[in-house]
Amino acid sequence: MEVLRVDRDRPDAAAMARAGAVLRSGGLVAFPTETVYGLGADARHAEAVARIYAAKGRPADNPLIVHVAELAGLAAVAASVPPLAGMLAARFWPGPLTLVVDAAEGLPPQTTGGLTTVAVRMPDHPVALALLAAAAVPVAAPSANRSGRPSPTSAAHVQADFDEDAVDLLVDGGPAGIGIESTVVDARGTDPVVLREGAVTREQLGGASAAASPASPGTRYRHYAPSCRVEVAPVGQGPRRAAALTRAGQRVGLVATAPGSAGVQTLAVVDDAADLGRRLYAALRAAESAGVDVVVVEGVPETGIGRAVMDRLRRAATASPSRYTQ
Ligand code: TXA
Ligand code: MG
Repeated sequence: MEVLRVDRDRPDAAAMARAGAVLRSGGLVAFPTETVYGLGADARHAEAVARIYAAKGRPADNPLIVHVAELAGLAAVAASVPPLAGMLAARFWPGPLTLVVDAAEGLPPQTTGGLTTVAVRMPDHPVALALLAAAAVPVAAPSANRSGRPSPTSAAHVQADFDEDAVDLLVDGGPAGIGIESTVVDARGTDPVVLREGAVTREQLGGASAAASPASPGTRYRHYAPSCRVEVAPVGQGPRRAAALTRAGQRVGLVATAPGSAGVQTLAVVDDAADLGRRLYAALRAAESAGVDVVVVEGVPETGIGRAVMDRLRRAATASPSRYTQ
């Protein structure tokens, strides 16, 4: 894949025009957002979107998020914009909130996963917004990782997951900001219903209710897991748990608020839940490279962004290789 390196805050206009043209002609472009890197295709181009599923090895019934650069983009892919969706978009866009609304006629089933609804968001990232404006088409983009793997928070993660010819262009705008994916809410009713925890917190949403199961189709699948075991330690207990596993003869990696003792490979020392969110996926990939048997990740309190971080952490730690039971 060709790599286009751009400045995060002032992406080169000619480079963005080229990347936009690749999208318009049915190509796949990986690009940074404020959450994680996305793998984009023209959301109205069935074959282009089908290539995303093939490249990722993604189940066909797991729909994609459509990315737009302006509010009119929502109206263009929605059957209509419910009042709640309009209100949430005005309040949180651009930003890490994905709105599920009834889909407009004519969107290919690849984009919607065969549902009658569509998920839409406006990312808060100068490179993503410039690319979407240059493409001038709605861009379907899941996280740019192979299905089941930790989401990519840098261009190097994208390169590590895909074959040379699977992706046409990789726009490298430096590290993603938040490191945890967007919050997905059903915006069709009178109150937002959270289908996937994410970077916009329940506190920010005003205590939105959780979805009755099933939530987002994607939350049924094994996710975010590196090839080694992941264990979640209680808050503050990471180094102690890592030491115990080391004494039991395991090679142990640690991600915690304090470094591990001798013999433990400390992969990241984090400040708080937001810092863990930024660094979690990179640390899981680093654990693989370090060749440890198990990576111990210290849990964080489940408030604010901590709720989404713990959701991802638990999924990464779930050993079951197939679907979650509902
Ligand atoms: O932050 C993000 O959301 C990143 C960046 C690239 O924007 N994208 C992302 O996409 O995380 P992906 O494909 O990894 O996750 C999309 C989630 C899945 O859980 C999917 O099931 C859900 O959104 N989703 C998509 N369309 C939906 C719909 N119509 N109804 C319910 N859930 C939907
Ligand atoms: Mg994903």
